[in-house]
Amino acid sequence: MLLQFKNISFGYDKNENIIENLNFELNQGELAVIEGKSGSGKSTFLHIAGLIAYPQSGVVTFMDESLNKTKKLFKFRRNIGYIFQSHMLWKDLSVRENVAMPLILQGIGRKNAYEAAERWLCDVGLEKHIKASVTQISGGEQQRVGLARAFVHNPKLILADEPTGNLDDETGDKIMHLCIRIARKNKTAIICVTHNKKWNHMFDSEYYFKKGNLSSIRRINA
Ligand SMILES: Nc1ncnc2c1ncn2[C@@H]1O[C@H](COP(=O)(O)OP(=O)(O)OP(=O)(O)O)[C@@H](O)[C@H]1O
Ligand SMILES: [Mg+2]
Repeated sequence: MLLQFKNISFGYDKNENIIENLNFELNQGELAVIEGKSGSGKSTFLHIAGLIAYPQSGVVTFMDESLNKTKKLFKFRRNIGYIFQSHMLWKDLSVRENVAMPLILQGIGRKNAYEAAERWLCDVGLEKHIKASVTQISGGEQQRVGLARAFVHNPKLILADEPTGNLDDETGDKIMHLCIRIARKNKTAIICVTHNKKWNHMFDSEYYFKKGNLSSIRRINA
């Protein structure tokens, strides 16, 4: 088991829980997709899974350790990569610098970080744009930089919040296929929130978010 939620409840406001007694399990390398209406709590769920928001009750277990506020969460966050709807790249940095940044922040030397970034940029088909400014490439290309940046530190878990939300259908298709192919190759688990059902068949498990809870539609090895 990579990630487990046991009876998780969370609210931004003390009087109202956005997430109520939620249970969830994700295996190493498992690809899970989550659908659900706007405002149902999907992004909030990803924030808890990403160890950014902390639940009021329940237990989150990640990499076989149950987490609490006193633990050094940064150690665990290093094993997580994030992909957002809008790519959230650093505009003043080049394509290569953007991808290298998670490694540099972990204390890896610039030369090694750049080499790793370049390998990932080749993997996502951006070898020609390594030195470009991120403001000089298209939206689909920017999202590919986002993919390379999410995977560059070899995380065990990728959290993707509507990664194709800002892309046209065809570009979205390419990004989703690329993301799944990379995850399968590296045995990286994914939790992906998306409004488009057409990619669901590529995932191992499907969930629906409703009234603060997840219902399982389909689960591998369930
Ligand atoms: N920082 C915050 N402070 C207070 N309330 C918040 C905060 N972020 C989200 N909420 C509320 O929590 C609820 C769930 O929001 P969340 O962003 O998790 O929904 P979502 O399912 O991701 O929606 P969407 O599909 O529109 O992205 C909403 O009612 C929202 O208004
Ligand atoms: Mg959301």
